Amino acid sequence: MSAEVLQQLDPQPGETIVDATAGRGGHAADIGRRIAPGGRLILFDLDAANLAYATDRVRAESGLEPIGIEGSFASVGRELKSRDIVADGLLADLGFSSNQLEQAERGFSFMRDGPLDMRLDSSTPLKAEDLLATLSEPDLADLIRRFGEDPSAKRIARKIVAQRAEEPIQTTAQLARLVREAYGPRAREARVHPATRTFQALRIAVNDELGALDALLDEVERTAKQLAKGSPGWLSLGARVVVIGFHSLEDRAVKQAFARMADQGMLQDRSRKPLKPTRTEIRSNPRARSAKLRCAKVGNLVQ
Ligand SMILES: C[S@@+](CC[C@H](N)C(=O)[O-])C[C@H]1O[C@@H](n2cnc3c(N)ncnc32)[C@H](O)[C@@H]1O
Repeated sequence: MSAEVLQQLDPQPGETIVDATAGRGGHAADIGRRIAPGGRLILFDLDAANLAYATDRVRAESGLEPIGIEGSFASVGRELKSRDIVADGLLADLGFSSNQLEQAERGFSFMRDGPLDMRLDSSTPLKAEDLLATLSEPDLADLIRRFGEDPSAKRIARKIVAQRAEEPIQTTAQLARLVREAYGPRAREARVHPATRTFQALRIAVNDELGALDALLDEVERTAKQLAKGSPGWLSLGARVVVIGFHSLEDRAVKQAFARMADQGMLQDRSRKPLKPTRTEIRSNPRARSAKLRCAKVGNLVQ
């Protein structure tokens, strides 16, 4: 959704923009070209290799020297304040990148056999395999229902617990097969692979993705509150905030946080309906099909 991102984020020469999820630097390079010369780009990513790749790409394509922060966007406010940076725009393109999905050894894909890892930040201790080995059956069912919104969560959890008594569940192929078996004949009717939701649930849990998103939205709300009181924050008055979510849990969190801030007069020009990728984009990048972009400006500028 690069055209939509640029339109809503509207980066101008000399501005300071935060890309909270640098990934492979596609959006970051577009932004860099717009804010050069004299602009500042701050890149966050949990994945050290992605952050390094994006930093090099921005440098090569825009001539800017971005500030790279290897860590979670959950601490964006603290990180910017400690550097005395005030941003004119913030982009968060949530979830994981295609290259992470394609690396079998990262364990994100049920299409590629690999270890059940699923960590975005490989320096953290908890892997998906650990959750599958240690959670109780009700906790596993709860995790798959809450983060995967899978109505077959109980059946899948029962299957996992029965199987792990026989042998440890350590590979993506093993887990995908178990979920398919738990679905039974209904697996054939499913529109997407039956393991899609279980993999999503585990990834969200391993990386505390919804916790990080809530923290990011809280940071935006806190700074918007400060601006409303006339004090400076890490975002400037009128800063554009653009968030792209890839499943309903993310989109709901963004929608509710934006609505809460708008009700309190701290946000304006909020998109009521999310923007979605065009059919042409979905054809060339099928992973984009579930993307929903929401945007708003900080501060009630009309008063
Ligand atoms: C969808 S990709 C971003 C793709 C990027 N916009 C591009 O154009 O290439 C999401 C990226 O966000 C990173 N990520 C996910 N959660 C994060 C978090 N809490 N803090 C920082 N980075 C995060 C992932 O490691 C991944 O590289």
